[in-house]
Amino acid sequence: MCGIVGYIGGKQAAPILIDGLARLEYRGYDSAGIAVIEPGSALIVRKAPGKLSALVDSLKGATPEGFSGIGHTRWATHGSPTEANAHPHTDCSQQVVVVHNGIVENYLALKEDLQKQGHPFASETDTEVIPHLIESYMTEGVGFEEAVRLTAQRIQGAQAVVALHVKDKGRLVAFRLGNAGGITVGYGNGEMFLASDLPALLPYTSQVAFLAPGEMVTIDAADARFRSIKGPAIRKYPQAAPYDSVAIAKEGFRHFMLKEIMEQPSMVHRAIGGKVSFEPADVHLPGFPFTDPQVREINRVVLTGMGTSLYACMVGRTYMEHIAGIPAEADNASELRYRGPILDDRTLVVSVSQSGETADTLAAMEEAARQGAKQITICNVEGSQSTRMAHGTVFIGVGPEIGVASTKCLTGALAALYLLAVRLGKARGFLNQGRVESLLNDLASVPRLIGQALEQEHLCERLSQKYGDAFNFLFLGRGINMPIAMEGALKLKEVSYIHAEGYPAGEMKHGPIALIDKSMPTVALAPSDALHDKMRSNIEEVKARGGKVIAVVTQGQHDLADIADDLIEVPLSPYLVSPMVHVAPLQLLAYYFAIKRGCDVDQPRNLAKTVTVE
Ligand code: F6R
Repeated sequence: MCGIVGYIGGKQAAPILIDGLARLEYRGYDSAGIAVIEPGSALIVRKAPGKLSALVDSLKGATPEGFSGIGHTRWATHGSPTEANAHPHTDCSQQVVVVHNGIVENYLALKEDLQKQGHPFASETDTEVIPHLIESYMTEGVGFEEAVRLTAQRIQGAQAVVALHVKDKGRLVAFRLGNAGGITVGYGNGEMFLASDLPALLPYTSQVAFLAPGEMVTIDAADARFRSIKGPAIRKYPQAAPYDSVAIAKEGFRHFMLKEIMEQPSMVHRAIGGKVSFEPADVHLPGFPFTDPQVREINRVVLTGMGTSLYACMVGRTYMEHIAGIPAEADNASELRYRGPILDDRTLVVSVSQSGETADTLAAMEEAARQGAKQITICNVEGSQSTRMAHGTVFIGVGPEIGVASTKCLTGALAALYLLAVRLGKARGFLNQGRVESLLNDLASVPRLIGQALEQEHLCERLSQKYGDAFNFLFLGRGINMPIAMEGALKLKEVSYIHAEGYPAGEMKHGPIALIDKSMPTVALAPSDALHDKMRSNIEEVKARGGKVIAVVTQGQHDLADIADDLIEVPLSPYLVSPMVHVAPLQLLAYYFAIKRGCDVDQPRNLAKTVTVE
């Protein structure tokens, strides 16, 4: 979850490290720190609790000088967000300095051993065992790079580490274990970079290489050498980075979240553009790995993911059933991995992950692989771990998502799941050509429909003023829009810190109705579809108990005008694509509620963009 950067070259390292950390702050912002080796070989470590701005303020313009260094922005796991727990961490002699992402699962045993050997510890973190272990190998006469490699063999759990040694300031050594986020190597001209994520590197280089689990890299100002943690050298060459830095700037929007909500029409258009043709109507998924006979063997689809990606899976379940004609289920990855699920080679496991690095989703994929299931991942990050683990990938393709709360990746993932279902349905003979054409026409209308739904931005802002003092919200939906109600509640919780519950509307009478009074507004998704009358009954039930209702309805549908307190009108949308349209006003409501309450929209408290720990 934490962000890592490293630099070595002919320029001052500290400004580059701080700039890189600013681009990675979405990964964690509990504390930040940098370590730079000065030309006289003094190690300068500066760290501060809180956001990166607190570190920058604490430097008071006196930025450490030196040509190699490492930096870190932290999402706390072991130890509270204090200066002592902030990274980088050093050994006893202040010679070895380390930044770390992930969890050292056996740190208690290692710490006890090291303490017995006389190593004092200055923090409550698991990370601190790493520099001390490196130091203890070096006191036995082992060189720095080898000491890092041996340390990588001693620690357990998924993690990424970058280490620097004062007497070896011309080199940075990094390794990756398991799936706790990656290490990307950036190639410059007479300078080299390391980062946990691409956005930190893109202003400096477009040539990158990715570290796989079990690999390590040593960089100097000119090049990178890769090897397995087990020992043998690995050949790896730089490749073009998949994103450009222009795409990740805010482009005039006040927040990334608003930019990413508003760019959904163009991004979804871009995402489906290359995957669909119309004469004849067909779907082209370059990363789809199975032959038609293999597809016909599939008798069940299990969709899995976490958070917003899980809600995408829940909509995807309907796509698999209605479009592909295959029995489907959707399951939270953190539950699936431990439940002892029954999977086999006739099961298709579809994992959804914006980042491709979510620990629980990757663990569920590992379990699926162990049981021989076929696997496809729906992912937005090329080269990420889930894309390497699955048999094939459908790229979401909506460009980098920087706002911590996921928005455009949900609509993009839904489009990808829809296309996957069409591909499967066609191969299974479940869809005739006419149905393929009408399904793809419906999908092609989505960018326009989302654009129309986003025209309700100002209404959503006004509603945030009207209801912004409420402490609790209920979100209700039915059918394919039920997961969207849950997503609306999640978005509101995440960015505005208002307590919200998302429920299938039919479940309301089985408990949640007890909460309803005039202080708990309900957002009801009640478009003109086959379940509209059922939703109207639920809205009546809320009103009968004095509750306030904001109803999301289809434009021109007036039957709720006298019942609901406020209407948000969205365009009439084909049922199967309607979640991509109906989610837009809920995203805007969450955004404007957060603004009204003065919350930090792009960096909500306690959250991180990529959850690489369990
Ligand atoms: C919510 C959100 C999270 C993620 C979840 C999974 O706005 O962003 O709930 O959806 O952490 O992340 P990915 O999709 O990267 O696996």
